Amino acid sequence: GITRHYKFNIQMQNVTRLCQTKNIVTVNGQFPGPRIIAREGDRLVIKVVNNVQYNVTIHWHGVRQLRSGWADGPAYIAQCPIQTGQSYVYNFSITGQRGTLFWHAHISWLRVTLYGPIVILPKKGVAYPFPQPFKEVPILFGEWWKADVEKIISQALQTGGAPNISDAYTINGLPGILYNCSANDTFKLKVKPGKTYLLRLVNAALNDELFFSIANHSLTVVEVDAVYVKQFKANTILITPGQTTNVLLKAKHFHPNATFLIAARPYATGPASFDNSTTTGILEYHQPSTNTKKSNKFPLLKPKLPIFNDTAFATSFVKKIRSLANAKFPANVPKKVDKHFFFTVGLGLNPCPQNQTCQGPNNTKLAASVNNISFVQPNVALLQSHYFNQSKGVYTTDFPVNPPFKFNYTGNPPNNMFVTTGTKVVMLPYNTSVELVMQDTSIISAESHPLHLHGFNFFVVGQGFGNYNSSKDPANFNLVDPAERNTVGVPSGGWVAIRFLADNPGVWFMHCHLEVHTSWGLKMAWMVMDGKGSKQKLPPPPADLPNC
Ligand code: C2O
Repeated sequence: GITRHYKFNIQMQNVTRLCQTKNIVTVNGQFPGPRIIAREGDRLVIKVVNNVQYNVTIHWHGVRQLRSGWADGPAYIAQCPIQTGQSYVYNFSITGQRGTLFWHAHISWLRVTLYGPIVILPKKGVAYPFPQPFKEVPILFGEWWKADVEKIISQALQTGGAPNISDAYTINGLPGILYNCSANDTFKLKVKPGKTYLLRLVNAALNDELFFSIANHSLTVVEVDAVYVKQFKANTILITPGQTTNVLLKAKHFHPNATFLIAARPYATGPASFDNSTTTGILEYHQPSTNTKKSNKFPLLKPKLPIFNDTAFATSFVKKIRSLANAKFPANVPKKVDKHFFFTVGLGLNPCPQNQTCQGPNNTKLAASVNNISFVQPNVALLQSHYFNQSKGVYTTDFPVNPPFKFNYTGNPPNNMFVTTGTKVVMLPYNTSVELVMQDTSIISAESHPLHLHGFNFFVVGQGFGNYNSSKDPANFNLVDPAERNTVGVPSGGWVAIRFLADNPGVWFMHCHLEVHTSWGLKMAWMVMDGKGSKQKLPPPPADLPNC
């Protein structure tokens, strides 16, 4: 591979959406941010210079970061933030991956405007396991707030209530024609009849899973989270925050002058406090030379999206995602398990501090947890503390293997809904083969949680509704061709089982990719020890690693 250099200047930029101009944090003044392109096997060297008043870090979401944990990015986990006026060089290579990923800020809620696609092409001369597309088009879903998002989340954490929702969903930063003042802020995709396009879908939205569809066109799913999958056709795609999906779009030629809506809107299992509006783009056909007159009489064709709580659709879509599992692209599912973990994931409550009124239920503060532990962000980076053996006062290694108490997760929540707080991690010896079952708890609200694991891909070996049954359910696990990914939706009122091999020494964050749940504490970290071999150790940190 070759080395590719990028420079990310973090700078403020005025951007107008929904009739209002706002000063937002950007990379190089661009919104959404610049595309990173590389081939499998290449090295990326990205210098990030912070010219804004916020502390910043950048995460390369889904990049395996094999023995390069110093470049992973989550603030106070992998690194201290890059402070105003400082810079940091992220240096990592892309090993064994090709497809679509994305980069985003990984501190507070700055990722609302700091995100962009990562396109990883196969090695030179290596073809896709599907017909070569005529063109490739990144399509990033996001959210737009009129207000200052940093203020919204810091206020919500103060009062303990739920933060305001966004004012619009966006496609490549544009809300689309169904929103006010957005006729010109609409993404347009021009296609040629007969050609095939590869759409690289990225859900960079903060807090919503999305359904995506294009009127009168079916899509062929070929890859998720930078792993090829067995191809299947779908009219609608489900994509959670943190997930990426590559689909082929065959441009047929229905009506020479028709325009087709591209649309996305939420799939939501939680409380009704969500935005059911739709972001749209337009698919247009280039006029064939024989057809000179462009008529406006033809209708704008709209896709049919499932209703917002269509869990049956969501479940059947997710079940279709299977690894290729062939000789060229084997599915290396760990067959034996060294360590079993059972984690509950869900919401909970924190008590209201004295002399304060709180906006959570019954004067509490909303919280979220894994195994009832609401993760408290440390003041120094876990990876540094771990590497230099300075855990004292930073973290403890007693993260529970099982929930502290069991109850019927799909029945009534327990009387005591308070979480405990702490900075606890799980220690894993090098090359531990892990099986992790994550069970949604339905406390406060039954909600799906897109869980994202840093540093690894995992195999989704099982999923179901109701309470996980450790004596019955494993018999149905798929160890042959399960989906391999970095973000999986733990279904509302259900569970998923994943397996991964802890072959990457370092500290690896795992959290719900709904930003509000991460803020409330639905996060934890795995600490993977060095192995004995020289290629099994985490190298020392780079000289410019920021201090806290
Ligand atoms: Cu895309 Cu820890 O995040």
